[in-house]
Amino acid sequence: MSIIYDSATGQYSLHTKNYSYIMQEREGFLLHLYWGKKTFGDCTYMFREQGRAAFSPRMENCDGFILDDIPLEYPCWGRADMRTPALEMTNPDGSVIVDLRVVGRRIVQGKQGIKGLPAIYCENENECETLVVEMLDSVSNIKVELYYCVLEDYDIITRYARIINNGEATVYIDAAASAAVDFDRIDYDVISNFGTHCRERNIERAPLNHGRFIMSSRRGASSHVHNPFLIMTSRGADEVSGDAYGFVLVYSGNFTAEIAANQFDTARAVVGLNPDGFRWELASGEEFTTPECVMSYSSVGLDTLSYNFSRVFRERLCRGKYRDVRRPVLLNSWEACYFGFDSDRLIKIGDSCAELGIELMVIDDGWFGKRNDDHSSLGDWFVNEEKMPGGIKRISDHLNAKGVKLGIWFEPEMISPNSELYRAHPDWCLHYENRPRSEGRYQLILDLTRKDVCDYIYESVAKILREGGISYVKWDFNRNMSEAGSPLLGSNKQREVEFRYYLGLYSVLERLNQEFPEVLFESCSGGGGRFDAGMLYYMPQVWTSDNSDAIERLKIQYGTSLVYPMSAMSAHVSASPNHQTAHVTPFDTRFTVALTGSFGYELDPTALSEEEQKKVRDTAALYKEIGDVLAKGRYHRLRDPHNEPCSAWCTVSEDKSVCIAGYVLTHVRLYGNNERIALRGLDPDALYKERFTGATYRGDQLMNFGLHAPTTLEFHSILWILEKID
Ligand code: GLA
Repeated sequence: MSIIYDSATGQYSLHTKNYSYIMQEREGFLLHLYWGKKTFGDCTYMFREQGRAAFSPRMENCDGFILDDIPLEYPCWGRADMRTPALEMTNPDGSVIVDLRVVGRRIVQGKQGIKGLPAIYCENENECETLVVEMLDSVSNIKVELYYCVLEDYDIITRYARIINNGEATVYIDAAASAAVDFDRIDYDVISNFGTHCRERNIERAPLNHGRFIMSSRRGASSHVHNPFLIMTSRGADEVSGDAYGFVLVYSGNFTAEIAANQFDTARAVVGLNPDGFRWELASGEEFTTPECVMSYSSVGLDTLSYNFSRVFRERLCRGKYRDVRRPVLLNSWEACYFGFDSDRLIKIGDSCAELGIELMVIDDGWFGKRNDDHSSLGDWFVNEEKMPGGIKRISDHLNAKGVKLGIWFEPEMISPNSELYRAHPDWCLHYENRPRSEGRYQLILDLTRKDVCDYIYESVAKILREGGISYVKWDFNRNMSEAGSPLLGSNKQREVEFRYYLGLYSVLERLNQEFPEVLFESCSGGGGRFDAGMLYYMPQVWTSDNSDAIERLKIQYGTSLVYPMSAMSAHVSASPNHQTAHVTPFDTRFTVALTGSFGYELDPTALSEEEQKKVRDTAALYKEIGDVLAKGRYHRLRDPHNEPCSAWCTVSEDKSVCIAGYVLTHVRLYGNNERIALRGLDPDALYKERFTGATYRGDQLMNFGLHAPTTLEFHSILWILEKID
């Protein structure tokens, strides 16, 4: 049993394999007591009411709690807690107050889905237990159910809240977080992520200081700028030691991930929908459910925290055929030819793919409407017969006959003002009446709060897929939202548009997943602008970044690996000099870096020298051989490219029989690069043989001393494949 409620003490104990999360019901409040290494027994002594009133009022009639100084599980705005709330509402009389007390609880086996939203799932009931704490504001009759799902073996707890208006009139939700956790100290480090297009998920680390530290998005997408995860650690924690706490939101739109150090030296984390710009009208009898927040804790540093998240996301968030099978080695046409192709060119590229052992060719942007650059045609999802006489079918038939599958790019959520669709339906995009519509990349965003628009998107994609021959879809989203209005919704609901948009998008994706279970969907948003757990529920891999430069990717992949599985990161060998940075890197380095993700090529195979062709052939064959270990093995970060002159990592198969390790020198220091890379996660007593050199090492040597990294050439790399021989 992973959830225990003790009615005598009011203690709720949630136990995963390695940690405990303890709460207590007191005077109707749900208090947070403990989150750390596993503990049993009575923890109620951990609650300390210090009576630090300062200027904060006491609660009347209830033991005089100073609400501002006690650790609450789902803090609400309006009474005397003046820290960031999880829930804020406006009542019919205009009062801004929610006062929740526990009125009931139930513990159920298994885990339910969340209607309309992506969520972690269980394969059988025994994997998970769910606690539902029922809370009520007895004045407004607002009921809130707090869901805690414990996936014991995964070391994961998920949380979300369901808000039900049992009152007689309409209320408004002004903020509704998925999870809040109060900590009784502030000596933590915050590991934050930041970025922009082509530089996603770089990492910064700083001590938590007083005040609010917020990563958020109000861009209508989880965004390139911050990703919806928050990690905090005990001071000085590293990959293998110290406490690490993590929160990841399963949502693709506007979010907040906040950690604040407050006046009494306590800290509060709040993760969920971004309250800025949000307001939800909740009529009598209606309910609203927040997205899910996935939480984990490790007492042995970041490596294990990352493992917990990446494992649960790969095995219990991603779905479908491709969850468990190695993804095909693909070649994407974008950097090979951009918009400059016709059927003959594509067929030549496809023929090269067949010769080189590439399993799937993707036709990127430019195959539809009149699209020869990015100024037109989004929304017109019919083949450009001028460029592609005979349509997609001619190409897929040709390639399929040679054993190469075909993939295709869509950007279904968008509409170009210069398109047949826009001329027919100028009101189908997000907009406010009588206001200009800002274009990004010459495009507007379709209004997915509308069912007719969702149906159009679904049908446009489904029609092409139903014609057959397509095994893969790259689903792009190439701008952020502005003027995000939906006139049909009426004036009281305009602040609901962004959330309703995602409900619409998720419903379209769900229908496509159901109708086309054989198709591999890859998410993209100018690279990693929507690399989030929400999208992973529908698409098991994401184009990690539009920056395909191996050296830049080191930081991007490092940051992404903090919570997401390597199998979710699409990574391609691109041309040198690189198209984004002009970096010149050896082929082997580009391969070693791309190998860690779902692997492919982003170059023109018809323009390769014979030597390069051999490299592509060899590397495609190698990935096919070891791709399964890379996707399912445990990934370890060994060097941090943000702070060190190199990057290194390894992936170890579950049975510890294979270890694939990579090293890249990013900054040469003359006479100074004498790195040795200590590996992690091996069997200390086993003997391993390195495939390329034939050298043998004991597991303990590899982990305690490591391997010399004898390259002094900048941007050069080493790939080691170690196989257990004894
Ligand atoms: C985005 C994607 C690229 C490519 C282009 C096509 O930028 O991230 O990979 O598909 O769109 O226009």
